[in-house]
Amino acid sequence: MSQETIKGDSIPLRGEFTPPGDKSISHRAVIIGSLAKGMTTVNGFLSCGDTLSTVNAMRLLGVPIEIQGNNVEIKGKGLIELNEPEDTIDAENSGTTARLLTGLLSAQKFFSTITGDKYLRVRPMERVVKPLTLMGARIWGRDGGKRLPLAIQGTKLSGIRYELPAPSAQVKSALLLAGLYAQGETEVIEPTPTRDHTERMLTHCGVHIERNSASVKIRSGEDFKGAEISVPADISSAAFFIVAALINPGSEILIKNVGINPDRIGAIEILRKMDGFIEIINKRDESGEPVGDILVRASTLKATEIKGDIIPKAIDELPVIAVAACFAEGETIITDAKELRVKETDRIKAMTTELKKLGAEVEELDDGMAIRGKEDLIGGECSSWGDHRVAMALAVAGTRAKGTTVIEGGDCVSVSFPGFFDVMRRLRG
Ligand code: S3P
Repeated sequence: MSQETIKGDSIPLRGEFTPPGDKSISHRAVIIGSLAKGMTTVNGFLSCGDTLSTVNAMRLLGVPIEIQGNNVEIKGKGLIELNEPEDTIDAENSGTTARLLTGLLSAQKFFSTITGDKYLRVRPMERVVKPLTLMGARIWGRDGGKRLPLAIQGTKLSGIRYELPAPSAQVKSALLLAGLYAQGETEVIEPTPTRDHTERMLTHCGVHIERNSASVKIRSGEDFKGAEISVPADISSAAFFIVAALINPGSEILIKNVGINPDRIGAIEILRKMDGFIEIINKRDESGEPVGDILVRASTLKATEIKGDIIPKAIDELPVIAVAACFAEGETIITDAKELRVKETDRIKAMTTELKKLGAEVEELDDGMAIRGKEDLIGGECSSWGDHRVAMALAVAGTRAKGTTVIEGGDCVSVSFPGFFDVMRRLRG
């Protein structure tokens, strides 16, 4: 297993950088580009473990996809020309690949199977299988259809009106992709808004979608044409450096070209509430997504309470927000975040266990964490639990620890942010 080492002792971060492309948007560009008719060109694409799982899946379905650096060319086949895959689709570590494709595959006229790595095979799939079955999908899987591998006999689907029992952009997107094929109208009602990249990208490609604050409707449809898609940098990757700059005195960094979709900036809202200096400048729009540059200065943070509607807007950033809380004055309480237990790993347990090894005062709650801030942590050995965001959050904690921190299994950062440790080294001089 790989080991990554982080020098501690609060070296300030200084300079500018552009994080890699947004993972959620990159997945969608490949899937939606494959379903469009004709050429889709994507720039700013994130080439990482997760998104390459989606690329490989779409190639297995017969879609020609060329990748050169951050540019991708997709010869879209239109809605009904995908081929039956000759082999099992392997989503590897990527929940987004597995869940969105389950929606898409349910509506095809062929049989397919989909699996994932040991982490993904224990994650819940029922949340997509259940509503898709209500649409008429025929899906079998381990544990009564609750876990991968899944076997999917594509069939004709009917639109439904479905109220999501819990906020999930992956489930919403799976149903919208199935809805592109289902007879009549498919409506997804959200208890709390979640990232709307699928809706924005389909609209950008000319698909008619009806939206209001709580629901999205799509009709089965006509073919749509390929488009040019610019992928902004990933706010979830930027978040690690936002926190690293906030907690290390003397830091000032500019993070460029970052996606600032209102459903994704919960971390910025929380960190500002904690008195973090974060300014968004140069705001603009690209391919239907808001983008800006983020200026961050080291700040004295204070504790806060994190719960309710902000949780889905910051779900992937909660591990690194827990790190920020380790250095904030007072006790930060995160609740309503039980979903963290079914991410790439149980992130509540992983962060509590590993931060404690570095001397943090963290308590595991059923649906979150309670964290009492202190001056410094103590460098030591900790483990990524095979989870990219846990590895990066621990690396950020290590920057403000005394001495060196070693992260076992730190190479899993390549799942979403290849080059993370190089950027960290560069900004710390
Ligand atoms: C994602 C949605 C979120 C998020 C995940 C990416 C997406 O998951 O945590 O990293 O791209 O739609 P859920 O839909 O399970 O909340």
